[in-house]
Amino acid sequence: MTLDEFVSSSRRLGIYKPGEPVEELAARLNLPVSRVLKLNANENLFLPRSTLQRVLTEAAAEIDPRLYPGGEEAVLAEKLASLHGASPAHIILASGGDMIIDLIMSSLVKQGDTVLAVTPTFSMYPRTAKIKGLTFRAVSLDNRFMLDGEMVLEEAEGVGLIVLCNPNNPTSNQFNRGEVMKIVNGFEGFVLIDEAYAEFGNYSLVGEALKRDNLIVLRTFSKAYGLAGLRLGYGVTNKVLACTLTERYLMPFSVPSFVLRVGAKLLDERAAVLEAIEEVKREREALVDSLGKIEGVEAFPSDSNFVLFTTNKPYEEVYNRLLEKGVIIRRIGDVSGYSDCLRVSVAPREITSMFLEALREVLA
Ligand SMILES: Cc1ncc(COP(=O)(O)O)c(C=O)c1O
Repeated sequence: MTLDEFVSSSRRLGIYKPGEPVEELAARLNLPVSRVLKLNANENLFLPRSTLQRVLTEAAAEIDPRLYPGGEEAVLAEKLASLHGASPAHIILASGGDMIIDLIMSSLVKQGDTVLAVTPTFSMYPRTAKIKGLTFRAVSLDNRFMLDGEMVLEEAEGVGLIVLCNPNNPTSNQFNRGEVMKIVNGFEGFVLIDEAYAEFGNYSLVGEALKRDNLIVLRTFSKAYGLAGLRLGYGVTNKVLACTLTERYLMPFSVPSFVLRVGAKLLDERAAVLEAIEEVKREREALVDSLGKIEGVEAFPSDSNFVLFTTNKPYEEVYNRLLEKGVIIRRIGDVSGYSDCLRVSVAPREITSMFLEALREVLA
């Protein structure tokens, strides 16, 4: 293939734009970086920076960067296993949940197969399916964002993999467990349940993944553990599948030793992590409540660390006017019958207050 051919064939793929970098926006608006509110990526600002800094410093002192990762993988897998009542052989470690998505779509489905996803869903699913040459089939949630397991199964004819985010992004709700289990029990192929936000929800299916042939659960350190910048995620599934994927499909040394060590140390800071999760939940309820009190706004209940809402103005206009005030949220658009949807991360109270004030000005 020539460069021209490659570039032109790549045009069928979209470009992932994470949003304008904070530093660029600050410079453009002539604001200090600290005045820009980054509320578009569901990061976790609740874990004290000082706790994370201490963990990072200790990890940096303990690892030898001259060597490839070694025992750090086993230490982290052991701690994750004990967290989930599993054994280390159930755990697949990767550089972020995105790498687990890539791994599954590169190995458990063949080129040309169909991936079925419950939509709207995390943008990385249609994107990765396209990159891998897979057909992407969508089954929509109803207008209350509810999941109908039987309907999903009816659409699953000829499908190689079913993908479901639970809690879902961008709708933020966690589905009825019974409906999810109908899919897991009724589908013969593989099911990937993305639990990136499970710590903020009410239940997890990790326990089910340990004992079933066809279920993989994705988890991440980017949300509840506040490590989005370090890129650490993992999959949990039965031992045979975990071992086959790790040994035969995953690139060796796919997570840096430093990151593995930080992850293991952070699992020892359980009290701080749980406290941050509780704070997220409290502030989330306050945010939904405050949004609902703004005229023209409808905010949806959330089981995650972000909130989906609609306003009575075009969402692009609301997004752009907030941006001009140094507030970055996420444009979503149409969701299951609701137009003009936007998504905002749950943040500590003083940040949320500034966001709400800016939104009130934009909608006044
Ligand atoms: C539903 C969902 N799954 C997976 C991810 C990827 O997370 P990670 O940062 O671990 O790659 C995200 C990130 O926002 C997400 O929203």
